[in-house]
Amino acid sequence: MKKLIVLTGAGMSAESGVKTFRDDDGLWQNHRFEDVASPIAWKNDPELVMEFYNQRRKQLFEVEPNPGHRALVLLEKKFDVRIITQNVDNLHERAGSSNVLHLHGELKKVRSTINPNLVYTMDQWELKMGDKCEKGSQLRPHIVWFGEAVDMIGPAVEIVSKADIVIVIGTSMVVYPAAGLINYVSDDVPKFYVDPKAFQVSGISNLKVIRKKAGVGVPELVDRLLSE
Ligand code: APR
Repeated sequence: MKKLIVLTGAGMSAESGVKTFRDDDGLWQNHRFEDVASPIAWKNDPELVMEFYNQRRKQLFEVEPNPGHRALVLLEKKFDVRIITQNVDNLHERAGSSNVLHLHGELKKVRSTINPNLVYTMDQWELKMGDKCEKGSQLRPHIVWFGEAVDMIGPAVEIVSKADIVIVIGTSMVVYPAAGLINYVSDDVPKFYVDPKAFQVSGISNLKVIRKKAGVGVPELVDRLLSE
């Protein structure tokens, strides 16, 4: 089976009602990321950081996968599909995708502040000060904050460098190292970029730009790839 790698960003979940970061009314229009998504923020005002992620985790219970998420699942009939997402929601998994790598962490997970390998899945939405790991230290969101290492970038490079087809969906391609993954794809590999603001990425060949929303452009592309 050909290896089909999908790189997704916040735009993938936009039509599910999940805010993106840099669009109008995006998350970074209403918060400075330094105040809610960085180790300094956590040190200075952990309750504010907790609240930022609690509100986003709470929304997970109110949103559903969209036709874009669901179309990607259909690709698994014909391709060895790996999804590498910058998103921290669980919509790919809830749509039924079986191989999802989260570069920036997961809203539904929290981890120990004394041992980052102690990771726990949350069934409810609210994490509070005083919620502790088995070693007795405060739990924090299992999210990669600005300034922290993207531990999963190594495995992601490994996966993307073996791709036979690549689909990029709903990302502004401005945050590294995630945005640099496409540079590890061979020139001859067909690439697609589905995003209303998709653009020809400099230095990347064999890239087809599809300026459509994920909910429309992804099902159309999937139909085409399955019928070829
Ligand atoms: N369908 C497809 N793409 C869409 C849609 C849609 N319905 N709506 C918006 N988009 C696109 C926008 O055009 C933009 O290119 O989604 C992209 C959103 O860009 P960002 O908000 O920058 O999100 P993303 O690229 O995922 O950000 C990367 O930045 O703040 C960090 O950790 C955070 O993972 C995030 C990273």
